[in-house]
Amino acid sequence: MTKKGMLITFEGGEGAGKTTHAELFKNYLTQKGLSFFATREPGGTDFSEAVRALTKDMRFQDKSSLSELFLFEAARADIVEKRIIPALKEGKIVIMDRFYDSTTVYQSFGRGLNRADVENFNKAASQGLVPDLTIYLKVPQQDAFARKGGADKNDAIEQSGADFHERIRKGFDILAKENPDRFLVVDSTLPIAEVFKQITTAFEQKYNEKNSKKGKNCEREFTKF
Ligand SMILES: Nc1ncnc2c1ncn2[C@@H]1O[C@H](COP(=O)(O)OP(=O)(O)O)[C@@H](O)[C@H]1O
Ligand SMILES: [Mg+2]
Repeated sequence: MTKKGMLITFEGGEGAGKTTHAELFKNYLTQKGLSFFATREPGGTDFSEAVRALTKDMRFQDKSSLSELFLFEAARADIVEKRIIPALKEGKIVIMDRFYDSTTVYQSFGRGLNRADVENFNKAASQGLVPDLTIYLKVPQQDAFARKGGADKNDAIEQSGADFHERIRKGFDILAKENPDRFLVVDSTLPIAEVFKQITTAFEQKYNEKNSKKGKNCEREFTKF
């Protein structure tokens, strides 16, 4: 029986705790002896990291929203094809610090592009992949920027204003409501350890659900919990 990979995405606004929890989750999987591939979007390949720098570059802050969308999709298409699909085929757990839900929220709810168009491009660039579990770290944007010491002055997206970031928060709330099966909404104003406990609990449940469907020859029973 071939192993099934799993796709876990961390989502939320700037400073919500995505990178913090993605790092903790990597340590946790290492301790459990589970093999994983961790990456971030945009980024993860040389090409996609170069595109990432372009998305943030303040010299191009006035680029069209559609151009911005295509930058994200260009970066996505490369990491999905070269790293994510191969890792999933190998049965790995793929951890992503942002994925296409961020694009739906930032480029549609945030920038105002047509949502159906954005979602079609997302689908094409990600070859139809859907995360098994999306961890939405929810925190009021002013609290998140306070944690970071303010919005990054050298980041074109972080410098998009308070109204934009409020639309982002509302957008994630809407996606979470629309996709209750894969979204875990966590109050990221709670202490980091409490937030992380909710994440591992949800992961263990998903993992066991997914692997119990594989039948008797399951190669990866989660006996360690
Ligand atoms: N639950 C939390 N409580 C307090 N501070 C937090 C919490 N989660 C994250 N932080 C802090 O907030 C800051 C931003 O976190 P980070 O993981 O970099 O966010 P993101 O990757 O979502 O932008 C970091 O300094 C981090 O230590
Ligand atoms: Mg981060």
